[in-house]
Amino acid sequence: MLKLWKVVRPARQLELHRLILLLIAFSLGSMGFLAYYVSTSPKAKEPLPLPLGDCSSGGAAGPGPVRPPVPPRPPRPPETARTEPVVLVFVESAYSQLGQEIVAILESSRFRYSTELAPGRGDMPTLTDHTRGRYVLVIYENLLKYVNLDAWSRELLDRYCVEYGVGIIGFFRAHEHSLLSAQLKGFPLFLHSNLGLRDYQVNPSAPLLHLTRPSRLEPGPLPGDDWTIFQSNHSTYEPVLLASLRPAESPVPGPVPRRTRLPTVVQDLGLHDGIQRVLFGHGLSFWLHKLVFVDAVAYLTGKRLCLDLDRYILVDIDDIFVGKEGTRMKVADVEALLTTQNKLRTLVPNFTFNLGFSGKFYHTGTEEEDAGDDMLLKHRKEFWWFPHMWSHMQPHLFHNRSVLADQMRLNKQFALEHGIPTDLGYAVAPHHSGVYPIHTQLYEAWKSVWGIQVTSTEEYPHLRPARYRRGFIHNGIMVLPRQTCGLFTHTIFYNEYPGGSRELDRSIRGGELFLTVLLNPISIFMTHLSNYGNDRLGLYTFESLVRFLQCWTRLRLQTLPPVPLARKYFELFPQERSPLWQNPCDDKRHKDIWSKEKTCDRLPKFLIVGPQKTGTTAIHFFLSLHPAVTSSFPSPSTFEEIQFFNGPNYHKGIDWYMDFFPVPSNASTDFLFEKSATYFDSEVVPRRGAALLPRAKIITVLTNPADRAYSWYQHQRAHGDPAALNYTFYQVISASSQAPLALRSLQNRCLVPGYYSTHLQRWLTYYPSGQLLIVDGQELRTNPAASMESIQKFLGITPFLNYTRTLRFDEDKGFWCQGLEGGKTRCLGKSKGRRYPDMDTESRLFLMDFFRNHNLDLSKLLNRLGQPVPSWLREELQHSSLG
Ligand code: A3P
Repeated sequence: MLKLWKVVRPARQLELHRLILLLIAFSLGSMGFLAYYVSTSPKAKEPLPLPLGDCSSGGAAGPGPVRPPVPPRPPRPPETARTEPVVLVFVESAYSQLGQEIVAILESSRFRYSTELAPGRGDMPTLTDHTRGRYVLVIYENLLKYVNLDAWSRELLDRYCVEYGVGIIGFFRAHEHSLLSAQLKGFPLFLHSNLGLRDYQVNPSAPLLHLTRPSRLEPGPLPGDDWTIFQSNHSTYEPVLLASLRPAESPVPGPVPRRTRLPTVVQDLGLHDGIQRVLFGHGLSFWLHKLVFVDAVAYLTGKRLCLDLDRYILVDIDDIFVGKEGTRMKVADVEALLTTQNKLRTLVPNFTFNLGFSGKFYHTGTEEEDAGDDMLLKHRKEFWWFPHMWSHMQPHLFHNRSVLADQMRLNKQFALEHGIPTDLGYAVAPHHSGVYPIHTQLYEAWKSVWGIQVTSTEEYPHLRPARYRRGFIHNGIMVLPRQTCGLFTHTIFYNEYPGGSRELDRSIRGGELFLTVLLNPISIFMTHLSNYGNDRLGLYTFESLVRFLQCWTRLRLQTLPPVPLARKYFELFPQERSPLWQNPCDDKRHKDIWSKEKTCDRLPKFLIVGPQKTGTTAIHFFLSLHPAVTSSFPSPSTFEEIQFFNGPNYHKGIDWYMDFFPVPSNASTDFLFEKSATYFDSEVVPRRGAALLPRAKIITVLTNPADRAYSWYQHQRAHGDPAALNYTFYQVISASSQAPLALRSLQNRCLVPGYYSTHLQRWLTYYPSGQLLIVDGQELRTNPAASMESIQKFLGITPFLNYTRTLRFDEDKGFWCQGLEGGKTRCLGKSKGRRYPDMDTESRLFLMDFFRNHNLDLSKLLNRLGQPVPSWLREELQHSSLG
């Protein structure tokens, strides 16, 4: 058996090499392995579903398949309950191109994945978590890394795949040193590499086809001459894509007629060794491979990672009436628009162009163009309409909401006078201004003047990469991600398309635009008035796109008006309803469309995050004594704390948050901060915090979690919490899972913040450890000057405040306070440093046991971080080990 390995050989020996292998193959009697037969008989041409455009050119040259269709074998269902829906991708390096292409498709499809550098030998990542498989699918960027795994790792991976019903996708990328022909080690499969191919065809019998329309043929040469084809006579292999050798190519070994189509993508049905695989004889640079790759993922995961067939497309034509003279639509252009719309309606149910208007520019073109404006209005009922600003001004330039609303009213007046429908509930803002980053005034004015429910933007969370664009809901307005289609105000002539007209065609025929629709269930495209005058590139683009999509895919294209479309979007992606605010100054584009009246300097440099009852108010108070440190203003509604990141306040947006901070007199030396002690144990806060304040420092205070729980219980009693008043501390902490709801809820709030290591780990997934300070709450209480010194060092605050002189111990209070003149002190209020009976022994022992493992984990974490272990933790661990 030949093993695939790298052989360096001079180019002129290549043909000789192929000949020798041919002879070996024959002498070994491997005549039995045949190419997958798909005859090239021209008679078998299949009628095309569409008469026009790209599809007809592809189908016309296409011979149909003659191989009797293989009855589709249902894939062995992956054991849904037993694997996580996560793809394990073995890449060649962090920057390898194919690896990045694989990841880009998984990300665009919103599939979860994890990348690992493909181990040369050994070092297989952990595949199971107790009895659960960690991965639903394995992808090898380089198939050879899989077949050449050492025996132990290979056995481990294969056994995992068999036991958990997990499939493998592998890519064979030929290069100049690849063997020309060889058997894939351990498989009844032969590879022939470095071939030039032509006339690509989809095998209609391939079971994995889902989005891909079967039987299609792409005539002409395939890019490059480094293709690999697969040959086998084992029934486990089913071709997926096939192509013919280019006339100049020498034949591959075996009795294969020259015109036979040879498989470059095969599906291994698992009949050989119980593992299903899909093998690609090239990378993903060829567009059709991307399509088939998406199907392969769906098939091998039993459709757990699968895109639905429905695709909703909405085409906005922005700037109606706005274009410069000479670029606007004339009567004939409007007629063409209507004709294309009608044509598209036969392919895309309900297809309707959505026109965005700024009334101020009505009739500002040439005479012919003004007639075009009138023609649009004459046929206004045949389109959908949405308002822009009256004079196309950017909303973020209006700080005054009523002035902004007045501008909108002018446009509304124009719409009413001209009978333009005003009830579609959709609007967009020029240059995304005010949509994201949020300009609260815009949302309010939109709602009050127009009753807007939906808008769209390319800017959330950022323009690039486009695959990360998402939607969110703010102030009752659904914001949808908008996609780029490559048409801008200045792209008006086909031959002058940036990079050449082939760029546009490439984007449509399997490139970026095609992939956008393939991978996004809902696409809103923004085009401009100028794209429909002159060469009418808008019409050309969307008609060609729709035809190409229908030719090669089984996607069900359709259009919905904006409001139902937005509802559909958030039905599909409910997790996106809640936004994730970023710092507008971290993205130049965002900064440019953010009000000049607002400044990112009003965001805090550090947060004191809790947990509650550990001394956070004392730190807040002591820090506020520092001249360079400024706290947020107290919030009247949430016990002085802002509590922005963890609750409903977050949805009020960052303008609301920033209003709690003064504008610093010197942004580089002043330190703004806020303290909300409930942030520490919240699931959502670290992620939200890191999105808005990625460079913020985080301060947390830890005391013995048993004491913290007891202090919290006393705090609740002092605030008249009926559950805390009804139950003793011991009853609260020891309540069983059958206890009344109120008691269990109290128990949770009392104990869960004390799972220190769990919460810290969460913070550390979003913030680097160097940005996190853990203050010893015990030390803060007994020697606050020492704690304040380390806090100042950590924050890098100057000048250094000497707290040994600033603070004084107050005997009456029993705590450290601010020292005032005349021996007086200013201490924290009555609610801090309360007096209450000591905790009873039974509760103490119970909690010592309850928190033992959490405390142990905390000490391990602190060791790992190189942070000192506080004295209370050391004592606690000693006691519990003695106990
Ligand atoms: P008790 O009131 O139960 O004693 P927080 O501010 O995070 O809610 O924490 C309150 C706790 O801070 C108090 O709990 C108290 O033990 C502790 N603390 C530490 N230093 C303090 C100080 N200088 N003054 C008042 N309380 C202080």
